[in-house]
Parts: sequence; C-alpha cells; structure tokens
Amino acid sequence: MRVLLMIAAASAVLGSVAVAEEEDPFADAVEMRHGLMLQMATDLGKVGAMAKEETPYDAAVASKAAANIAAIASVLSMDQFPAGSEYQKATDSFALPAIWTAQDDFLQKIADLNSASGAFQTAAGTDLESLKAGMAGLGGACAACHKAYRQPEE
Ligand code: HEC
Repeated sequence: MRVLLMIAAASAVLGSVAVAEEEDPFADAVEMRHGLMLQMATDLGKVGAMAKEETPYDAAVASKAAANIAAIASVLSMDQFPAGSEYQKATDSFALPAIWTAQDDFLQKIADLNSASGAFQTAAGTDLESLKAGMAGLGGACAACHKAYRQPEE
C-alpha cells in the first residue's frame, strides 16, 4: 500500500515536472526573486532620496521602507534560487552559478542583509542624520551580494 502511494506520488511529481519543463521550470522562482528584489530597490530608493535630501525626511515613510526591506530580507532563501536557475540557463536570470557552488557564502550574504536591514530600521526612524549614517551599511549589503553573485546587465 505504502509502495503504491509512493509510486503515485512520484509519478505525480514527475508529471508536473514534465509539464513545467516545457514552460521553463524556473520561471516562477526567477519572477519571485525579481519581485522581491524590485520591492527592496523601491524601498531603498525612498530612503536614498531622503539621504540625498531630494525628498524631505519623513520618519514614518523611512521606517516603513526600512521595515519592508527587513521583511523581504527575512524571506530570501534558497527557495527563490533553485539549483540550475542561473544566468544563460533560465530565462531572464542574472544569477551567477557561484550561488550554488559557494552556497554557504551566499546564505551568509542573506544573513548580512538581515543584520544590516535590522540595524537600519532603528536608524531610519530616528532622524535624518542617523538615516544617512545607516545607508552605507544597508547599501553595502546589497552591493556585496550583487558583486559576487549577480551578472551585471549590459
Ligand atoms: C544574497 C544576495 C543578494 C542580496 C543581499 C541582494 N540581492 Fe539583489 N539580486 C541578487 C541576485 C542573485 C540577483 C539576480 C537575480 C536574477 O536575475 O535572477 C539580484 C537582482 C536584483 C535586482 C534586479 C531585479 C530584476 O528584475 O532584474 C535588483 C533591483 C536588486 N537585486 C536589488 C537589491 C537591493 C536593493 C538589495 C538590498 C536591499 C539587494 N538586491 C540585495 C542577489 C542579492
């Protein structure tokens, strides 16, 4: 009975993989991580504009943007980076293969973003000077990962 169930489960999985492969098996994961990254970029843009004094400092807006980045950082994991969903193998992917060959370091970069965005949350809601002082740490956490693991777009 158990064997039959396992066979049924396995063929269900294989069946769905076969269907997905025709459509690009990584489309959902790539779309998901792009969405998460773009939301972080939008929020970073808001606090960045305040730091450059292009928009007036607003503690509530800055806090919300910082909280969004921290929330998204906590969602990032290998779930959005399935093995094989790399640059030139998965449509629209700019994820470098090193993500999977140096996975511990990649996960450390996610942990670093979690620390940086946590610290930035306090800074962003305090005042403009604190926000400005906190920008480098947060932006640095984005940049460190992109430098190692993201193919620059031409
Ligand atoms: C742990 C690694 C890592 C961290 C940290 C990280 N990113 Fe990314 N980011 C990536 C990778 C890898 C890609 C390429 C993903 C792809 O194209 O499939 C990417 C892509 C992007 C993109 C392009 C999205 C698109 O639609 O092509 C933006 C924008 C972006 N990141 C913004 C940010 C911002 C802002 C931060 C910091 C708040 C950040 N990222 C932190 C790894 C990271």
